Amino acid sequence: MDVTKAIIPAAGLGTRFLPLTKAMPKEMIPVLNKPAIQYIVEEGLASNIKHFLMITSSKKQAIADYFDASPCLDYLLKERNKLHLLGDLEKIIKKAHFTYIRQSSPLGLGHAIMMARHIIEKEYFGVFLPDDIITGKQAALAQLIRIARQEKGSVIAVQEVPPECVSSYGIIAIKKQITPNLFQVSHLVEKPNQKDAPSNLAVIGRYVLSHKIFNALDDISSYATDEIQLTDGITQMMKHNEKVFAFKVQGTRYDIGNPIGWLKAIIGMALHDPTYAPYIKSYLADIDSFDSLLYNKTKHINHLNK
Ligand code: G1P
Repeated sequence: MDVTKAIIPAAGLGTRFLPLTKAMPKEMIPVLNKPAIQYIVEEGLASNIKHFLMITSSKKQAIADYFDASPCLDYLLKERNKLHLLGDLEKIIKKAHFTYIRQSSPLGLGHAIMMARHIIEKEYFGVFLPDDIITGKQAALAQLIRIARQEKGSVIAVQEVPPECVSSYGIIAIKKQITPNLFQVSHLVEKPNQKDAPSNLAVIGRYVLSHKIFNALDDISSYATDEIQLTDGITQMMKHNEKVFAFKVQGTRYDIGNPIGWLKAIIGMALHDPTYAPYIKSYLADIDSFDSLLYNKTKHINHLNK
């Protein structure tokens, strides 16, 4: 089973980041020195994805510009011996192929996935929800692809969440536990009440799906009155003889879709980054101490810039 294409639904308005997102795509929000979307594409490349199908809307042009060549900037940087400042971006642009597809009406995640139907053949493909950044030794999508090959079915990434948080996620119902981290799924429920949740295993933003999802989404869109949920499409896909598995991926997941999650991601990722860790560690230690910059007015504010 080859998985070389991935859909990235990036058409959302980013209302939780207003007013910033009035003129800037939320996918371009910086996490350390890179835009959030770059982490997604890097995870894709590390999982052998070659073709990224970006589902966008108006005001998202900056994403396409970012992953495009920039001859003038390259020329200037080269002249000043500063081409290295672009980091891995040049390599990404050379390796990855991008297709941008407009989703003109916000009809839900299932609808966004359907927008790429004409490019996906009879194959398995990846889905990245760009609000979720997952770091770890092995790329999260690569872990799912391994399971998809092994089990010959679709695979969803899950993580355990506290019972009071189930209403923020798609939640799986378990048909069979295969290993401590691998489950066969019987159905999914999108954002259930705590008392109706079939488990505390929440879908996080990575999927490997069969092309059968498109017919399944067709089925449910014929009676959907509101948004078309991917979660419902996946449950429906099982009626098209597709087995669905859930895998607890190894790694740390950050939800950068809201300002608090984004702040936690920046701090968490800085603490694991050799360039930033020493500074952020001493800054946090200082903030914590009674003699911190915040309380000791005699310290000069410039300390913060070191
Ligand atoms: C989406 C999915 C949900 C999933 C979540 C993960 O919800 O619909 O099933 O659990 O992403 O982040 P959203 O957070 O976009 O409302």
